[in-house]
Amino acid sequence: MNLPTHTTIASAAGNWWRNAVIYQIYPRSFADADGDGIGDLPGILSRMEYLAALGVDALWLSPFYRSPQTDAGYDVSDYRDVDPLFGTLDDFDRLLQAAHARDLRIIVDLVPNHTSDEHAWFRAALASPPGSVERARYMFRDGRGADGSEPPNNWQSVFGGGAWSRAEGDRQWYLHLFDRKQPDLDWNNPEVRTEFESVLRFWLDRGVDGFRVDVAHGLIKAAGLPDWAGETSMVDGAPAQDASDGVNRGPMWDQDNVHAIYRDWRRILDSYPGDRMMVAEAWVRPQSRLARYVRPDEMNQAFNFDYLLARWNAPMLRTIIDASLAAAAEVGAPATWVTSNHDTVRITSRLGLSHPGIRPKGISAADEQPDEALGLRRARALAMLTLALPGSAYIYQGEELGLPEDTTMPATFRQDPAFRRTGGREIGRDGCRVPLPWVAGAPSLGFGPGAATWLPQPEGFAGYAVDRQEGAPDSTLELYHALLRLRREHGLGRGAVRWQASPDQVLVFDNGPVRVVVNLGTDDVDLPPGTPIASSLALPGEGRLPGNGAAWLSVP
Ligand code: NOJ
Ligand code: MG
Repeated sequence: MNLPTHTTIASAAGNWWRNAVIYQIYPRSFADADGDGIGDLPGILSRMEYLAALGVDALWLSPFYRSPQTDAGYDVSDYRDVDPLFGTLDDFDRLLQAAHARDLRIIVDLVPNHTSDEHAWFRAALASPPGSVERARYMFRDGRGADGSEPPNNWQSVFGGGAWSRAEGDRQWYLHLFDRKQPDLDWNNPEVRTEFESVLRFWLDRGVDGFRVDVAHGLIKAAGLPDWAGETSMVDGAPAQDASDGVNRGPMWDQDNVHAIYRDWRRILDSYPGDRMMVAEAWVRPQSRLARYVRPDEMNQAFNFDYLLARWNAPMLRTIIDASLAAAAEVGAPATWVTSNHDTVRITSRLGLSHPGIRPKGISAADEQPDEALGLRRARALAMLTLALPGSAYIYQGEELGLPEDTTMPATFRQDPAFRRTGGREIGRDGCRVPLPWVAGAPSLGFGPGAATWLPQPEGFAGYAVDRQEGAPDSTLELYHALLRLRREHGLGRGAVRWQASPDQVLVFDNGPVRVVVNLGTDDVDLPPGTPIASSLALPGEGRLPGNGAAWLSVP
């Protein structure tokens, strides 16, 4: 094994993750080095200067492990190897070393709820009889009814259809909260725990700075697997301000015993030098339940999905910000801020809908089409809110370009299992996963040396290409450069929110020396006192801020 020589970045002030800006790379769609139309690790390496110049602190890589790619890599068949699609372990080591050399930390994705059905364990389970140790690693159960032909309970898959399948000729069923090719592991089995501790160590030994934990609220299911009348859904589109709304409290989510797992993992992470971290993907409400995942001896962060689901509405955003800060403070954790990822419609497009911020599960050509210019204008203003908040902020690749969702992708190209399993009723997540545009005039818009891309790039993407935006003063990329520099300079991630009086659809707060003003209304408003240091649009002068605009001022 060719281990990098510098595996950790010395932590100056400690707890770098408390105020880090973390950039999510979706490897299939970031950059392609070998020209097969699918992004890969050497592609990421080739764009390291871009990432370093952006001014973020860490990169989170969605899965690049061996996988049949049924769910774009969230179906892992070998947790200790790189899929040939993406490169080799040596490529990973090179990438990690190059990132660390630029003070960029690397967070990898851990997928513990389920494996691929092509994982050696599941193959062995199918080849072994009911009651065997091989089957005990997964959730095999006898069916209901006289001949066992009914599934063991009524649970539905998050991707649509039933959550139980059985192999042909098999009398038992196995649980899969996601696709039938993603069998759920049984986390009450100590062998499963030991195996994942070993996987953690494998990547920690290689020098990774942390883990994003997939479906962190789903590993433990309620004893007896009781029927559940509600929908099985990771994401809920309801307004997020009703703190009493306990969505996703079905017997498959947020069970108390899940926390013991993260306490064990935390002990392992803490035994390594260099301040390693874990962030939970847990769709859990209210905030007080979510905060349980980031108690001092558990994970370091949890994604703040209430913030992601917020509407374009000043009082709602303020309520969510306050609730998030309070819940995190209660357990001594940093708040996190996230507005999109590879599972959600791109923020620019959500904000361009007639009910801005509502969260559709995908947008198709038959649906209302977002107003692209308006969405972008709002997304830029929202970035000025997000990056001014204390705690840790996430950027999903392409957000820094203002990239919209592809809302017109023909069905033939769609690959999301949710699209397939619902017969197209759910349009799925492909529209936010389109390969990035790097060079406006080049084949595949500079994504790779070839013309092909695994999902087609819509024509309009050329206008968002990196080469069009670099150095262009009004571009979204340059806005991000400026904001990330100012955020660092003024220590906003370590600061606090002090709200100031403001009209209804306007948010005004001070964080240290910076006064943040976001106008969510449509009319111009007066800017409060202070000298502008950044703005999401050209300021008309006379101390006015246009609608759907934001500015940072220096506090007088
Ligand atoms: C959440 C991941 O973000 C998503 O992409 C995936 O499909 C599911 N978990 C299942 O692993
Ligand atoms: Mg490739």
